[in-house]
Amino acid sequence: MLAIIGGSGLTQLSTLEVVRREVCRTPYGEPSGALTFGTLAGKPVVFLARHGYGHTIPPHLVNYRANIWALHQARATAVVSVASVGGIRADFAPGTLAVPDQIIDYTWGRKNTFFDGGEAPVRHIDFTHPYDEKLRRSLLAAATDAGEPIFDGGVYASMQGPRLETAAEINRLERDGADLVGMTGMPEAALARELDLPYAALNVVVNYAAGRSSSEHGIHFDSIELVLQEAMLRVRRVLEALCRAG
Ligand code: HPA
Repeated sequence: MLAIIGGSGLTQLSTLEVVRREVCRTPYGEPSGALTFGTLAGKPVVFLARHGYGHTIPPHLVNYRANIWALHQARATAVVSVASVGGIRADFAPGTLAVPDQIIDYTWGRKNTFFDGGEAPVRHIDFTHPYDEKLRRSLLAAATDAGEPIFDGGVYASMQGPRLETAAEINRLERDGADLVGMTGMPEAALARELDLPYAALNVVVNYAAGRSSSEHGIHFDSIELVLQEAMLRVRRVLEALCRAG
């Protein structure tokens, strides 16, 4: 069963035929909300809104451990993470969909591992390639099937938030090799790997990053909202195509 974690703009999947909702507890606390079980294009899916169904949980307070644990416990076999991002590189214009292939983690103070002392022996996961390549390929193929242009690859920078970046921070991220900037990619991806859960991200560029192009003098929230609404229609089509193929 595929798990979908929805980010900003995707607090529900309107085309999901809901079968049941389940409130769960985990050894790490409560997930962002009830798990929504249903079918998408006839395939079983479990959906979770990362920021809660009322979009009230900021990126640094998301209980990533509880979310990933709950999806694993629900017998999810793969996780697609939908998240909005800022575009650093000029060709990542607002409205672009991308399936990144690398991550740089700039977050701090988040509970970022299941191996937090206690009884279990420490396990150092291999994270050379942070996303599951097979799932990445499936997402890209689904986009092609759905007729939606999509970018293959990109380095995702996970920032702490909740504020957006300064122009100088974006320049630094670019020097570091980052193409896309968001706030929720980590520790989510690493936690999925700790549980051997294949994980890939479907990023939606909703603004040029701070100081770039149309965001040269600041980031305009009104236009983010418009881009988000339109792009999520395309994201839904990609997810449906993914389920149809799976
Ligand atoms: N920076 C960080 N996170 C984001 C952005 C951004 O510009 N846009 C959407 N999420």
